[in-house]
Amino acid sequence: MIFERNFIILKLKTVHFKGGVFLINHQEFVVQTIKHPLEPLTAEEIKAAVTILKDEKKIGDHVRFITVTLKEPAKKTVLNFKPGDPIEREAFIILLDNKEEKTYEAVVSITKGQMLSFEYIPNVQPSIIPEEFEECERVVKNNPEFQEGLRKRGITDFDLVMVDPWSAGYYGIEADEGKRLARAISWVRKFPNDNGYAYPLTGLVAYVDLNKMEVLRVEDHGVRDMPTTDGNYIPELSDSITLRDDLKPLEIIQPEGPSFEIDGHYIKWQKWHIRFGFTPREGLVLYTIGYEDKGKIRPILYRASLSEMVVPYGDASIAHRTQNAFDAGEYGLGRLANSLELGCDCLGEIRYFDAVLADAKGNVRIIPNAICLHEEDYGVGWKHTDWRTGHVETRRSRRLVLSFWATVGNYDYGFFYYFYQDGTIEVEVKLTGELNTGTFDETGKSKYGTEIAPKLNAAYHQHFFNFRFDMMLDGLKNSVVEVNTVPEKRGQENPYNNAFYTETTTFKTEQEAQRNLKLETARYWKIINPNSLNAVGQPVGYKIMPGENCLPFAYDDSSLLKRAGFLKHHLHVTKYDEKERFAAGPYPNQNKGGDGLPKYVSQNRNIENEDIVVWYTMGHHHITRTEDWPVMPTAYINFQLKPVGFFDRNPALDVPRPISKNHTC
Ligand code: CU
Repeated sequence: MIFERNFIILKLKTVHFKGGVFLINHQEFVVQTIKHPLEPLTAEEIKAAVTILKDEKKIGDHVRFITVTLKEPAKKTVLNFKPGDPIEREAFIILLDNKEEKTYEAVVSITKGQMLSFEYIPNVQPSIIPEEFEECERVVKNNPEFQEGLRKRGITDFDLVMVDPWSAGYYGIEADEGKRLARAISWVRKFPNDNGYAYPLTGLVAYVDLNKMEVLRVEDHGVRDMPTTDGNYIPELSDSITLRDDLKPLEIIQPEGPSFEIDGHYIKWQKWHIRFGFTPREGLVLYTIGYEDKGKIRPILYRASLSEMVVPYGDASIAHRTQNAFDAGEYGLGRLANSLELGCDCLGEIRYFDAVLADAKGNVRIIPNAICLHEEDYGVGWKHTDWRTGHVETRRSRRLVLSFWATVGNYDYGFFYYFYQDGTIEVEVKLTGELNTGTFDETGKSKYGTEIAPKLNAAYHQHFFNFRFDMMLDGLKNSVVEVNTVPEKRGQENPYNNAFYTETTTFKTEQEAQRNLKLETARYWKIINPNSLNAVGQPVGYKIMPGENCLPFAYDDSSLLKRAGFLKHHLHVTKYDEKERFAAGPYPNQNKGGDGLPKYVSQNRNIENEDIVVWYTMGHHHITRTEDWPVMPTAYINFQLKPVGFFDRNPALDVPRPISKNHTC
């Protein structure tokens, strides 16, 4: 039935329209306006998609809904979209049948009210969802063998035991083939609000079949010495914390409100035009980012998100050797998002957005205030003092911040996207929370970790983040160049041996574009549009401005690098393919390896002057410190996409002088 343009239109044999609501099988769906094809699914759309699928496939209680997300329309459809055009709404759904032990992908047209496809995906394990976390902890704690292990360690109150299910990875264990697995490791609290990570039950490991939700086996590698000092960071719970009393209030006030305008998930701020969404796997997704210049909106990015993150541990001991968490693909960062608190997580004039997701049953699950949007003062944007005349011109820099926080077991991660008035985009990950702790074997020390408190070990590890940027600088056809700085050769042309210049190479194929940073040549990569030239005849460009980075220390034939081959290179460039979305492939959980970027670039497609995707990996090398305990001070890792020849002059020239009641600049 066609109701009206831009409205959710539901077609089902049993659909009835009754005064403002649709009824599908006697359930109500409120009609809601959708203004753009990339708006995330609304709660009503999720309900409708799940109902349509359940109705069509007679889905029973043994089937879990892993994800229900917007099936993004084709790029061409989005780019040709004009306000008022009809919008086709489709949902992409991943299902896990616990009884059949099978994974399915379905596409449902919400607009047409029908299922479009339903496909069995063999040999994959979708990500572990929060419901499985909770059930896994319960079955492990109820297991007699595990309980025996606890008793051996003098633990009788099982309610105080914390069981963290870790993704099992893939280590070729025959008995585990084809099973949906979690490797559960444990800690114990002394009282309910205690920081249990102070007391690890290292060596007691339970393997859980998550389909059958039963313990497969319990390994007990022996009782170890338990640390004796607490790890409490809640002031009320710790005698060792005396709160400082010399901190005066710092208020951020915007008396006239923020400078941005919002329409659904579209933001207009300081010449930036930004659209965003939120998925259970990636969390924040940015779409169709453009900047107003010379009277038009110039496109920069079509889509940007965190495609994967991996936390490999470098500890060879029996307790830690399989710890490699793929937090996006194995757990899902969006579904682990926090509800943010004003004045705590975000300071100032804040606009929050809810994350609208589905739970395991397919019911709508809303995380209130999951996404935070605000403006921040960021020091001096530009200034100059004319020392002859004494004239000073100074501008404050202001940035727009779009962010969310996710808690993945012991760690907490903040994912921040910053937009600056000078055309720069910055991506920052903030790492805090609890270290993954263990105890020492009989030697009382470890080569692979730091003793962060008496008898408490924190294994060395790394955090890698891969960001996928579907670029479109002034159009879809872009190229990527590598710029290396080299010293001029000695001789008459270089009389003082200090001259240097840049050498630029354009990548032609995907294989060529697997590259690493190089300090010796101050290497960087620049995305350019060879078809769009600036005022001085150069192709317009944006460079990737690296921040902290590192490389993995695992060998190429390790399970880690087979499964996360993308870690070997900081840069990959691929020709756009809508199916190539994740650096370690769509189903990294228990994957044997070979999927993701190494597979994508094995096609060795042409990437010069093509519709391309740029993938940047950054790594935080974490040699653990005593200061990271009992809660880790936030570590920041970031990089920028910075205009290089994209604008003809400083795009922030037109920022007005700072306005304040108390002073003028
Ligand atoms: Cu760390």
